[in-house]
Amino acid sequence: MNVLIIGNGGREHALAYFISKSPLCSNIYAIPGNPGIFSIAQGTGIKNVNYPEITKFCIQKNIDLVVIGPEKPLSDGLSDLLREQGINVFGPSQKAARIESSKAFAKEFMKKYNIPTADYAVFNKNQFAEAIDYINSQKHPLVLKADGLAAGKGVIISNSAEESIEIMKNMFEGLFGSAGETIVIEQFLKGDEASILAITDGNNYITLAPSQDHKKIYDGDKGPNTGGMGAYAPTELINQTLLNKIKTKIIAPTLDGLKNEGTPFIGCLYVGLMICNGEPFVVEFNARFGDPETQAVLNVLEGDLLKLLYSASVGKLDTSVIINIADSYACCVVIASEGYPGHYKTGFPIKGLELTEKDDIIIFHSGTSFIENQIYTSGGRVLCICAKADTLKKAIEKAYSAVEKIFFENMYYRKDIGKKGLNYTSQ
Ligand code: AMP
Ligand code: GLY
Repeated sequence: MNVLIIGNGGREHALAYFISKSPLCSNIYAIPGNPGIFSIAQGTGIKNVNYPEITKFCIQKNIDLVVIGPEKPLSDGLSDLLREQGINVFGPSQKAARIESSKAFAKEFMKKYNIPTADYAVFNKNQFAEAIDYINSQKHPLVLKADGLAAGKGVIISNSAEESIEIMKNMFEGLFGSAGETIVIEQFLKGDEASILAITDGNNYITLAPSQDHKKIYDGDKGPNTGGMGAYAPTELINQTLLNKIKTKIIAPTLDGLKNEGTPFIGCLYVGLMICNGEPFVVEFNARFGDPETQAVLNVLEGDLLKLLYSASVGKLDTSVIINIADSYACCVVIASEGYPGHYKTGFPIKGLELTEKDDIIIFHSGTSFIENQIYTSGGRVLCICAKADTLKKAIEKAYSAVEKIFFENMYYRKDIGKKGLNYTSQ
């Protein structure tokens, strides 16, 4: 099979890496790709994500499957464009992707289909006075969220009515650009977070290993939110009883609801959860694989990923191709540029990459560039170092011993990735 991967992050590097292990895989291409992805996949010459060019390329190269990594092309409708040309796509339609691209839509949807989530209200720029009344009537903390896509950063937790009003004002005045023209204000949920990825053909689904991301920039889950600073899988926070609840109260009604709305979801449904006193609540949906959860989750998945994604894309999900969803533990540590998620400098040479390449350690690239035989930093999240072992403790130790071999100027990483997982496991 010929496969095209859309995206240039660690998630897409992991997808390319594990898809390439399939005996069915003949050629992998990537747009726009990154230096890590291009150690596995071929470039295309299509520099920008130019949708008509991508469609043309798929026809020319007989692409059997397009896997779309990021949210932006999904919310732009790339899946629809490709399907109109008869090209198989793993990724939801623009309409189904609204579950991620509009938080207001996702909340209304959950209300309609009785899916557990925090109480909320939605306001736009013209409803400032109503929003103030609402804020004053609620107990704090509250969570204020920009409706549109904001790279995981459009969410602010507020501890008082004054603070909430100030944040709302900033959001309406363009703090997150047009994404914040409408906002969701919701109750703060206290509990433990986890992520579940469900691979679905629109009717049936399979859940992959439950994982935990580390969204805050600093150790101990302090500081502002980022795209994700590390992940581990599986997390024993999600035991079988809880997983069954998540399936019956959340995943099944969500997929049925989307089908009922005339927008069946084909792809990876990411369910961001808060577990409060043993009950699961949805914090967010994403219409795609999570980053960095995917790097951890695919690391512990045994089976033919390409067959799985292809079967979902043609509406005939074949779960028999998966031998085991979590036979071991994976810990993935993101190395970022100092200053991220705010301002940071790039263009520094990365040393030590070759020292870490071993069977059970994989380095996924995100913000890197390749110039004259040297890899340089080029983004906020630069690398994701993933280690696998038979216990979580060993996976953490291995990941950090690999991290210590890497060096670039202004390098920053959290020192406690996976640590909270040790609270739930004896391993
Ligand atoms: P979101 O983009 O909606 O996932 O929000 C980003 C992060 O903000 C989540 O991963 C949580 O850590 C936090 N968060 C979002 N909504 C809530 C909530 N209702 N209660 C507590 N924390 C939340
Ligand atoms: N790790 C969170 C996300 O992918 O949105």
